[in-house]
Amino acid sequence: MSELAPAIQARNLYAAYHRQVVLCDVSLSLPQGQWTAIVGPNGAGKSSLLNIVIGNLAPLRGEIRVLGESAESQRRAGSIAYMAQRENMEWDFPISVRETVMTGRYGLMRHDPLWQRLLPMRWSHPSHREAVEAALDAVDMADYASRPIGELSGGQKKRVLLARALAQQADILLLDEPLAGVDPPSEALILSTLERERRAGRTVIMVTHDLPSARRQADHVLLINRTVVGMGRPDDMLSDAMLARLATSSAPEPLAGGVRVAA
Ligand SMILES: Nc1ncnc2c1ncn2[C@@H]1O[C@H](COP(=O)(O)OP(=O)(O)OP(=O)(O)O)[C@@H](O)[C@H]1O
Ligand SMILES: [Mg+2]
Repeated sequence: MSELAPAIQARNLYAAYHRQVVLCDVSLSLPQGQWTAIVGPNGAGKSSLLNIVIGNLAPLRGEIRVLGESAESQRRAGSIAYMAQRENMEWDFPISVRETVMTGRYGLMRHDPLWQRLLPMRWSHPSHREAVEAALDAVDMADYASRPIGELSGGQKKRVLLARALAQQADILLLDEPLAGVDPPSEALILSTLERERRAGRTVIMVTHDLPSARRQADHVLLINRTVVGMGRPDDMLSDAMLARLATSSAPEPLAGGVRVAA
């Protein structure tokens, strides 16, 4: 990992669902060790962009690099922790808060000896248990550790999902609307947790509709509406003029620009 390499770099990226292009000629560079807020209207392609980074959506064209290397190799190396906008999770599944957070360690457990992987969680390597307890503490959910995940409120679930991402101890935290649907105390807690992670040298990349917190917390703001509208300091990007441009701009219509979509 090079110190100078951007956390995420995209060059001329296009993406589509079926025949509708949702990202069009996206080129960007998000710096390492800093906090970038990604802002754009509903349907702008923000989640799609994150889905490309984590390998859930294949770009039609263009390139994405993570920490100067292929996204695939950095995913395998465990460099990216991701928190989805809508977690595809069976909330009624009888799993505790602590076990849910432990699932964030599964990728790292691949490196443990096989015998240790086959044992119940309480026998897992102490590093996994320590990371889980630290993550639960960070989001103030240690008191709920033994509770079934299904019993939690929406905001508490969000905190647990953030804890699961933190437990991965990845270089890059990729968070899709971590503040949506949480109450003000939870929002403050999530933001202070992320601030601490950033101070510890992690890269925080957060999709958000919460402009005041983006203005206050982020080092950079990326404006996106199917294509990049701007990238810069929060005060510059979140000005009335830029937000007006963001609302009215969007990339050319589907399949313009010579993009061909595989059938
Ligand atoms: N799995 C999918 N299949 C088909 N179309 C999709 C799929 N996911 C997203 N889309 C469409 O792609 C476009 C971009 O969606 P995306 O979720 O990336 O936007 P977003 O910027 O994250 O929006 P929001 O702020 O509402 O979360 C939208 O028009 C959406 O309807
Ligand atoms: Mg989204």
